[in-house]
Amino acid sequence: MAWSARFEIGVHAIDLDHKLAFQTLDALLRALRDGAATNVLEDTINVLRAYADEHFRREEELMRTVRFPELPAHVAAHDAFRRKTFEFEISRRRSSLAASEVVRYLMEWLPDHIGNADTRIIPYLNAYRASHPNASGLHARPPVRVPSARSPAGPSAASTVPPGASRRTR
Ligand SMILES: [Fe+2]
Ligand SMILES: [Fe+2]
Repeated sequence: MAWSARFEIGVHAIDLDHKLAFQTLDALLRALRDGAATNVLEDTINVLRAYADEHFRREEELMRTVRFPELPAHVAAHDAFRRKTFEFEISRRRSSLAASEVVRYLMEWLPDHIGNADTRIIPYLNAYRASHPNASGLHARPPVRVPSARSPAGPSAASTVPPGASRRTR
């Protein structure tokens, strides 16, 4: 699954997040091809859950800033991904998660969501920039933090809290 310019929205941190998601899928695909997918499955799910947590929060904040009118539907799509990665984690802990299942989901979800939903913000981003020439905040945030593969803490017990349970209400 190749990254292409058609996925770019023009906000550096967001584009970096999206590239990271594609790279995560690519690494899993390669591992699957090499028969080593089981070894990387835990790290993959951790990265996907960090992505769902940090990238979506960053992107939704940007969408609120530029008054993207499709935000509610967009948040619902993010929530579906959050739920899916939570289910992946539960299955993985029960040793019943196939890497091919994760690959299939990502190959469908990532290009469709980034290419067809995330990019819909572009006209609103352009309008916002035109009316806020000094809007440096659009570039200010760092890209998504990837959890260390061999972090001594490991996935915390808190990571089994269902998505949405501790999020603030809007
Ligand atoms: Fe999105
Ligand atoms: Fe996104």
